Amino acid sequence: MSLKWTDDLSVGDKNIDKDHQELFELVNDLTNARMSHDYINAILERLKRYTVEHFSHEEVYMRKYNYPDLEAHLKEHAAFVEWLNTIRSMYARFPQSPFIVGDSVNSYLNRWWREHILQEDMKYGQFILDKKHQQEEKH
Ligand SMILES: [Fe+2]
Repeated sequence: MSLKWTDDLSVGDKNIDKDHQELFELVNDLTNARMSHDYINAILERLKRYTVEHFSHEEVYMRKYNYPDLEAHLKEHAAFVEWLNTIRSMYARFPQSPFIVGDSVNSYLNRWWREHILQEDMKYGQFILDKKHQQEEKH
């Protein structure tokens, strides 16, 4: 099944929406890929770059609007980074079947977008949207 980004997934910030679309693309690529060691290494590299940039975009955005659940949100990001570091170092040390690694990355990312993007990211999106509306009303 391929992931499709729709407008109701917007968190109200163009850059962050673009990041999320990029992750969807990555998941879709992974679903259709012919697995090989090179391919898995490239995906893991891509994910590493992605998390560094994307998580900091979100953090800046949440801080800007004093999002009250920031700490809990950052813990989830930290758990993702830890998962990624673990899988990268394991794969580097014991290069097991790229099919198995590809599969487990794919299912982690599918869970991530359902449990994190659809829930946690939507929460700060809604909070900030409400805050923006309140600010507009004051002016
Ligand atoms: Fe997030």
